[in-house]
Formats: sequence, structure tokens, C-alpha cells
Amino acid sequence: MKVAVLGAAGGIGQALSLLLKIQLPAGSDLALYDIAPVTPGVAVDVSHIPTAVNVKGFAGEDPTPALEGADVVLISAGVARKPGMDRSDLFNINAGIVKNLIEKVAATCPKACVGIITNPVNTTVAIAAEVLKKAGVYDKRKLFGVTTLDTLRSETFVAELKNVDVSKVQVPVIGGHSGVTILPLLSQVHYVSWKDEEIEPLTKRIQNAGTEVVNAKAGGGSATLSMAQAAARFALSLVRALNGEKVVECTYVEGDGKYARFFAQPVRLGKEGVEELLPIGPLSAFEQAAVEAMLPTLKADIELGENFVK
Ligand code: NAD
Ligand code: LMR
Repeated sequence: MKVAVLGAAGGIGQALSLLLKIQLPAGSDLALYDIAPVTPGVAVDVSHIPTAVNVKGFAGEDPTPALEGADVVLISAGVARKPGMDRSDLFNINAGIVKNLIEKVAATCPKACVGIITNPVNTTVAIAAEVLKKAGVYDKRKLFGVTTLDTLRSETFVAELKNVDVSKVQVPVIGGHSGVTILPLLSQVHYVSWKDEEIEPLTKRIQNAGTEVVNAKAGGGSATLSMAQAAARFALSLVRALNGEKVVECTYVEGDGKYARFFAQPVRLGKEGVEELLPIGPLSAFEQAAVEAMLPTLKADIELGENFVK
């Protein structure tokens, strides 16, 4: 199994590379690529950790050598937010970066599963889909927006608020990955009962958690360490699934189109990527209203990505 990280010299990329070096199954190959010249050095650095994962680093304009034979490609290349910015403000720079990288994926490893971390995820995933489609290699089972950080935050904040064991908390998070499009389904959390007045502030905190980090870092970037853990969790689930296990994760995929062309929801992963879209389950009145309210934003984000490639 070969995993390629594009953007590997960045805040997320370096931490993610570390986590993958430590946790990928023995015998895996890890390819680290970034435009930054330090990237081969990042690979040498992590390669000194004694695990049976082979690491190679690549820098420069062309990711092709890193992508050759890749089964999983994780993309965190691009710019991050500063205070006062929305994720959509990153579109002007990141749309082109994702488009170029996906063109190389289409040409070099068209059958790979691709996880997009680069923001604005609601839009960059649509860009990736259109580029792959144009190249004639799009398989919707194999393209994912990585929304796992919303899940991690929901688990953490629910456990803190309700004083329960965080390892037992599971929260499905649906929709997209920005502001109101992030919807944790708190009504579906097991073994927790809610007071009405708890739901809205907790939902808002989860929706604004990225901004909470951006403001706390005060111009020094956005979430990197928690995001690396989230991406590692997602990537390791994907690798287990490609190796034949059945694994469930919430992720932003092209589903049945009930709400929007791309929508984050629980899916069962298998040997070919998404094996089954799992039901979103019963929504509370609050959640139903929140889904309806997010759709204009989410659909506009998706359309922006589609039109960027056409
Ligand atoms: P960063 O600036 O620390 O790292 C980005 C890296 O991308 C840099 O090393 C840079 O050299 C590289 N890069 C830029 N253009 C490139 C290109 N054309 N080819 C290859 N590499 C290129 O940023 P970061 O904190 O790691 O964040 C990266 C992205 O992830 C941002 O867009 C951020 O908004 C996003 N993000 C997403 C989530 C999520 O939940 N999906 C969470 C946090 C951050
Ligand atoms: C996050 O949720 O932390 C990321 O999407 C980064 C950001 O800009 O908020």
C-alpha cells in the first residue's frame, strides 16, 4: 500500500507524515511531496523513526514521482486562513493548486483514493471531481473531502460538556466543512441526554471551531495538529478498508444527491472506496431546519468548484 501526502512540508503535512510513519501497516510506502525544497529533508527526518514504513521525499513543481503507484493520495497543499478570513477567501489561490495536483493524479494514479484537506473543502472536492471527470477517470467512490476534524471536535466538546468518557462518544457530522454547513447530529449521540438550551450553543461552537483556532493562533495559521490527527484517522481507516476490512467514517462524498451533489455523511468504506452510503438517520426538528438552512450555501460552494473547471 502506498500513501502520498501532497503538501507534506506544511503544518498539517509534516504532522500527518509523522503520524503515518508511526501508524501505517508494516511494508507500506509513504511518499512526501511539497513544492517547498525542504521536503526531502522532512522525509529523511521521519525515516529515522524505527517503523517498517518506507519513506521518500520529493520537492519541486511536479508531484508525478510521488504519485506513481499511489493507492491513497492526501492533499493538504495550499494556503491557510488568517483571522478575519472565511474559508471561501482561500478559493482564489487553492482552487488552482488543487486543480493542478488532481490533473497529475488523473494522469499518474487514476485509481487512487483521494482525500482532499485543502480548503474550501466544499468547493475543492467539486473541482477535483470535475478534473477527474474531464480526464475520464472519475470514480465517485474514491473521492473524499476530509471532514474528520469536525467529528473529532464534536467528540471532544460533547465529552467536555457532558462529562463523559470521550472514547465512548460518537457524533455523526453531516453537510459540508464550513460554518453553517457543518452539522453535528447531537440528537444521535448515545448515552447522552440534552437540555434544549445546550444544543444550539454546542452546535455553533463545533461550526466555529476552526475560527477558534485561527483566532487563537493570531495570524500564525489554522488547525494543523488536530487536523493531522483527523487526516491520519481517516487515511488509516481508508487503508484498512482497502485491505479488506469494513470501516465506517463520516466524509464529504458524492452521494445520492438528496440534499446536494456532495454531502458529508456516514459511509461504509471497502476495497474500492465507498462501498455503501449509510442512512443519515432520524433528525431532530432543530437538525432538519439546519439542513434546509445550509443547502443554499453548500450548493453555491459546489457550483463554484464545478464552474471553475468547465
Ligand atoms: P501550510 O501553509 O502550513 O502548508 C501548506 C503547504 O502547501 C506548504 O508547505 C506549501 O509549500 C504547500 N504548497 C503550496 N502550494 C503547493 C503546490 N502547488 N504544490 C505542493 N505544495 C504546495 O498550511 P496548513 O496549515 O498545512 O493547511 C493546508 C490547507 O489545509 C489549508 O488550505 C487549510 O485551510 C486546510 N485545512 C483543512 C482542514 C480540514 O478540516 N479539511 C483543517 C485544517 C486546515
Ligand atoms: C478547520 O476547520 O480548522 C480548517 O478548516 C481550517 C480553517 O480555516 O478553519
